[in-house]
Amino acid sequence: MGASGSGKTSMRSLIFSNNPASLTARLGATIDVEQNHVRFLGDLILNLWDCGGQDAFMDSYLTTQRSTIFQQVGVMIYVFDVETREMNKDLEYYRDCLDGLRQFSPSASVFLLVHKMDLLREPRQPSFEKKRKELQDASGEGTVSVFGTSIYDESLYKAWSNIVHTLIPNASILSKHLTTFAVACNATEVILFERTTFLVVATSSNLPDMPDIPSTASSLGSDTTGGGDARGLDPTRYERTSELVKAFKYACSRVREEFHSLEMELYDFTAVLAEMTRNTYVMVIVHDPTIETAALKLNVRMARRKFE
Ligand code: GTP
Repeated sequence: MGASGSGKTSMRSLIFSNNPASLTARLGATIDVEQNHVRFLGDLILNLWDCGGQDAFMDSYLTTQRSTIFQQVGVMIYVFDVETREMNKDLEYYRDCLDGLRQFSPSASVFLLVHKMDLLREPRQPSFEKKRKELQDASGEGTVSVFGTSIYDESLYKAWSNIVHTLIPNASILSKHLTTFAVACNATEVILFERTTFLVVATSSNLPDMPDIPSTASSLGSDTTGGGDARGLDPTRYERTSELVKAFKYACSRVREEFHSLEMELYDFTAVLAEMTRNTYVMVIVHDPTIETAALKLNVRMARRKFE
């Protein structure tokens, strides 16, 4: 949900339909509610409702359609245009939606996206923090998660990976199995991506007996937030990988090639990205130069049945 023009359909088309950001300018306003069923991880189907944000539609969601819109919601994602001139009106609608949600789906999670962050001319972090505070104050008692997003960088993938993660019932078990797999491969890290969206489904957890990683280990991307993890890895590496692979897949589709797998052997680490199950890809990162990519691919093949 969110005001008209805040970017809801654009983000849906990027994440779920593999369209590039440049095509979103052609999208028309959503009329009433557009429902999509997205098969996500085999039996898990996401039922995505894109609610057109024009005032007449919003008024109807909050009155006549109230019980339909807010019934059985798993997650409400409310999108705010960071440059909106009507923040008070946006907040009023948001509070009303929150009331509807608390009434019909009290256990639903709430994600607030401060969107179009690329348009900000002033430094992003302080402006975002101000918005976050404003939104948290407007949310009252309940917990809400706030993300700054833009369709022009990886931030959208971070927010959506977090959103989807809350809907995956066995995420912690997946993470446990990935950690076992990482130990078997002597890998620094193993990441599971959903096949079509390339959102992060689960990652291996920090491995206690990791070999020392050279300080250049963040070559998957520069550390923009200054807060890398204890192993010196870039904190934005997951969403950046999602964004890069999605762009690469799009480039492949333009020359009518299908994307299957990826191997990178750089001087300080090796990465293998390969199909794990029908609905997932796995990325294995290794900082041991003696480990061959062929061995990693063999391990992925052998682990497939366990993860299917
Ligand atoms: P309704 O369907 O009327 O509710 O609007 P909506 O929220 O679905 O908006 P839509 O996705 O149609 O986006 C409106 C415009 O915002 C489009 O021209 C997009 O290209 C643009 N837009 C979407 N996301 C971003 C972003 O992150 N940054 C910038 N600069 N523009 C964006």
